[in-house]
Amino acid sequence: MAAGIAEVAARGGIRAIIRARSEASLASALKQINGGLSRQVEKGKLDVAERDRILANISTTTDLRKLSDCDIIIESVVEDLTTKQELFRELDVIAKPSAILATNTSTLSVVEMAKVTKRPDQVCGIHFFNPATVLPLVEIVRPITASDDTISLATEFVRAIGKDGVQVLDRAGFIVNALLFPYLNNAIRMLDAGTASMEDIDTAMKGGCNFPMGPFALLDLVGLDTSLSILETLHASFGDDNFAPHPRLRELVAHGRLGRKTKAGFYVY
Ligand SMILES: NC(=O)c1ccc[n+]([C@@H]2O[C@H](COP(=O)([O-])OP(=O)(O)OC[C@H]3O[C@@H](n4cnc5c(N)ncnc54)[C@H](O)[C@@H]3O)[C@@H](O)[C@H]2O)c1
Repeated sequence: MAAGIAEVAARGGIRAIIRARSEASLASALKQINGGLSRQVEKGKLDVAERDRILANISTTTDLRKLSDCDIIIESVVEDLTTKQELFRELDVIAKPSAILATNTSTLSVVEMAKVTKRPDQVCGIHFFNPATVLPLVEIVRPITASDDTISLATEFVRAIGKDGVQVLDRAGFIVNALLFPYLNNAIRMLDAGTASMEDIDTAMKGGCNFPMGPFALLDLVGLDTSLSILETLHASFGDDNFAPHPRLRELVAHGRLGRKTKAGFYVY
């Protein structure tokens, strides 16, 4: 997700710095960006000068302190609250006083991240969708602590990078995932009950609802570890059984089958 978000910002004329813990992660992010842009050049959808302009707006670092001059910092690390809180504590120290600290979390409570900083009024969610370079929606998530100025700046940023922003309160799953994940979880239940094959469920939801992909292809795209974490958060928040992660999802994650990113999830790639 981080590479996609950096590319979208760079396209919008904003200088973006990608920070990862290792050079290998940075190389993989740049490979993803370069690959996508080059394919667009080959298809005639992007000219070379525009590609070079986008790439010139992106730099990389392993050093968190290099973000000290950023106006907005969007974290997009693993969907785990403790990890994110630890990062927000560090960002709060290195970021300039006026900077907004945002999270790309899919479901976690944004106020739980805001409260570990000394600037809770400058923390919000800026939630992109996968792939960030293609999907137009961004959810701007307002925790109870956020100031109107923070939400206005986040909204302005989202507009500047050409995305469609919607505002939503800091409730688990926000708009999209709160509605989407019961459906995805119930697709696994249906498969488990033997009602239809995985392929036929995917074909049915594409052909019958005009969805671009079926539930199993979508779970693999989102990542099964991320999906499990989203369902756990939704279940803990709302207590609704539709959110209780299906055991099949836990099994696949336990076996390291995390979806497209590990070349195997429900499908093998
Ligand atoms: N996958 C999706 O469809 C999707 C969509 C929207 C939002 N999100 C959210 O984006 C975030 C990232 O998801 P993803 O799908 O890119 O996950 P991912 O597993 O592909 O990537 C997470 C990255 O975070 C890195 N990481 C872990 N701890 C870190 C730390 N302390 N500092 C720096 N990097 C660290 C990992 O090495 C990994 O490269 C999550 O919060 C997720 O909920 C995901």
